[in-house]
Amino acid sequence: MCGIVGYTGSRTAPALLIAGLKKLEYRGYDSAGLALQREGTLVVAKKAGSVADLEATLNRDLEQVTVGIGHTRWATHGRPTDINAHPHCSCGDEIALVHNGIIENHQELKDWLAGEKGHHFISETDTEVLAHLIEEFYEGDLLVAMRQAMNKVVGSYTVLALSAREPGRLVCTRQSSPLIIGLGEGENLIASDITALLEHTRKTKILEDGEFAAITADSVEIVNADGAAIETDIFEITWDLEAAEKGGFDHFMLKEIMEQPDAVRETMRQRIDREKGKVKIDDLGLSIDEITALDKLYIIACGTAYHAGLVGKIIIESLTGIPVEVDVASEFRYRAPLLKQNQMVIVISQSGETADTLAALRLARQKGLKVLAITNVVGSSVAREADHVFYTWAGPEIAVASTKAYLTQLVALYLLGLYFGEIRSYIDQSVAKELLEGLIALPGQIREVLSEASIDRLRAYCRHLAGWESAFFVGRNLDFPVAMEGALKLKEISYIHAEAYAAGELKHGPLALIVEGIPVIALATQKAVLDKTLSNIQEVNARGGAVFAITQKGFNDVAGQVDGVFYLPPVNDLLAPVLSAVPTQLIAYYAAVERGHSIDKPRNLAKSVTVE
Ligand code: F6R
Repeated sequence: MCGIVGYTGSRTAPALLIAGLKKLEYRGYDSAGLALQREGTLVVAKKAGSVADLEATLNRDLEQVTVGIGHTRWATHGRPTDINAHPHCSCGDEIALVHNGIIENHQELKDWLAGEKGHHFISETDTEVLAHLIEEFYEGDLLVAMRQAMNKVVGSYTVLALSAREPGRLVCTRQSSPLIIGLGEGENLIASDITALLEHTRKTKILEDGEFAAITADSVEIVNADGAAIETDIFEITWDLEAAEKGGFDHFMLKEIMEQPDAVRETMRQRIDREKGKVKIDDLGLSIDEITALDKLYIIACGTAYHAGLVGKIIIESLTGIPVEVDVASEFRYRAPLLKQNQMVIVISQSGETADTLAALRLARQKGLKVLAITNVVGSSVAREADHVFYTWAGPEIAVASTKAYLTQLVALYLLGLYFGEIRSYIDQSVAKELLEGLIALPGQIREVLSEASIDRLRAYCRHLAGWESAFFVGRNLDFPVAMEGALKLKEISYIHAEAYAAGELKHGPLALIVEGIPVIALATQKAVLDKTLSNIQEVNARGGAVFAITQKGFNDVAGQVDGVFYLPPVNDLLAPVLSAVPTQLIAYYAAVERGHSIDKPRNLAKSVTVE
């Protein structure tokens, strides 16, 4: 999620690193920093804010420096402050490093390093642990020390480091996080993304998980965890800059849709104890007594996050027995809600900056209620002002239409539901275990939904849909909020007027709008109401509507009754929204592509709505 660049050669490193960091900033970052080698010492400059803010603080006397590393941060552990910005240094400031990812056992390592080994820590980050850990093993060879140190680390990471005692040498490693070495003439570079390299070279070596590399201006040494040399092919990059920023996809939205298996997995990481069959989110800071005493929850959000809340209501009520009311933030504020003791407000916001959501949060707190925020941005206003925070680890979302953040918001609500349900002894152990196993399987299942063959099936229907100015989404129970989200996505980027209805409501009015060929997307993933949904599909069929159904494999009755069908892998009904949302995102995306619209920046919309 963070951006990393390193340079060793004969050109001015600070300017080159700053230019590289700016290329990574399109993903949205909150702080930046450099560590530079100068005459046997390290100079570190870092700052909360943009790369330009950092650039403004750099002294001219650094122009002679030709070796350094840089970082733009998307905060995970610790707020975006000057001290938490990377690089982080060892006690003696002899080693500096930058990191992308999460060190899962950082607390255990920190306790050991600060206690037994006497290291002094100054930041709130997991990253600082790595600088001290490498220092602990350092005897003059950074590559050896990094290999030994990383042996003790659990997590996903890219690490890039340099030592004051090894002029011209940069050392790096990776685990489940990208890292690319750019090969130049009399210079070499390292970066987390191709975009930071393209201006300098198209020749690269791609480091694999568990490999380590040391580079100087004219050498690249790659070894495995035991130190044995590894031969790596040179990979020539053919993408242009724009394609590289989007990871080779045509749009950020599609890239972010494709990132969903990872976003969902990251959001669950460390929050499920599979052996005990339990959710472990004790770091929320809510006591058992507080959770047990809850007699009502409000979920408040806007847009897509509100739709996640509507799914959350059904999940939380069924897993915890706590009644849940869901409100659009701009309505909640002005309807004098009857807030009482033993109630809690959950706000959901990807950006953490939505003005209406923030105002609702403040109102709830003013009235004496505790607020739990589900947000994707560490240190955002919502995160700072809430009493408790659950971070979704979707990574930066750039496309205006929210996709991966939505899926991770759903995951957060499942985890909260299971956690509260367990503490309140409401949920049966075997049901909890089945749901946890179901959650763990989701990333793989989302990947299946995103397979090329599946997408081809959708695209044919999207060509039909793109020719219409009006479309409907219908569903019952958990399928209804997913239908609402599907309709919003379609409206936002294809500009087709789309309405979502509870399938049972069609005959109470909207059926009058069904004409020959009109697109109707029917969500039919809920076994308990499948027959009822099929009857509603028949009502549409009888009036000539073109029905495309999204259902589960094994629900065989559906195919014979619709014009097109998309099968999801078999899934527990309660978890189905996480899978069924994905084809609706793809339908919106490909319909908008057919209509030739600006996908990532739809007309009249902004990514973060900071005005009422
Ligand atoms: C739709 C979309 C918006 C946001 C809404 C809330 O695709 O992205 O509806 O969901 O503006 O934004 P956050 O979650 O940042 O509060």
